[in-house]
Amino acid sequence: MKKLIGLDKNKTAVFISGNGSNLRNLIKFSKNKNSPIIIDLVISNNKNAKGLLYTYRKKIENKVINFRNQKLSEKKILKILSKKKIKLICLAGFMKILSKKFIQKFGGIILNIHPSLLPKYKGLNTHKRALLNNEKYSGCTVHYVTSKLDSGKIIIQKKVKISKYENEITLKKKILKLEHAIYPEAIKKIIADL
Ligand code: GAR
Repeated sequence: MKKLIGLDKNKTAVFISGNGSNLRNLIKFSKNKNSPIIIDLVISNNKNAKGLLYTYRKKIENKVINFRNQKLSEKKILKILSKKKIKLICLAGFMKILSKKFIQKFGGIILNIHPSLLPKYKGLNTHKRALLNNEKYSGCTVHYVTSKLDSGKIIIQKKVKISKYENEITLKKKILKLEHAIYPEAIKKIIADL
């Protein structure tokens, strides 16, 4: 197991598939003087991911790996991660499920953020399903990644009240704001706990 080092800046890779608002937020967090991470690499399975723009702006290396052949793609990624000595992976809106083999072979820590109060609403369309079920609360969760979808140990979870007039768009916006608060918090927490 490649341990994270509490005092040093931990070399981190962020995996994205889309907008990248969490990536943007993590980059901002990594630039704080006392931040425990340095973002050294961004991986996207989607060449059109808007989030890639932040890597150009902030001069962070990116690799687009299409995952058409998952086995080969994961092999390629593992090679890059090892070459760059990445110790922490933050999944941030990465819409692929990493294989058990990948998780084992990487050996470092992998975190994910999910827009629901796990274990409720794993998978896709979380806001829509929460609204359809007339939930009173929803929220977001940062958890360790295992080979089971959205199922690893929870690090931080925060909830928000669903108002009477909530729709998918307003709920998504509300929860994203919360995501941006808890992802850095969760990273600080796991590093402090080492
Ligand atoms: C976020 O809401 C994140 O929690 C979710 O995708 C969105 C990505 O937004 N992730 C998942 O649903 C993973 N299961 P972003 O690209 O703006 O960070």
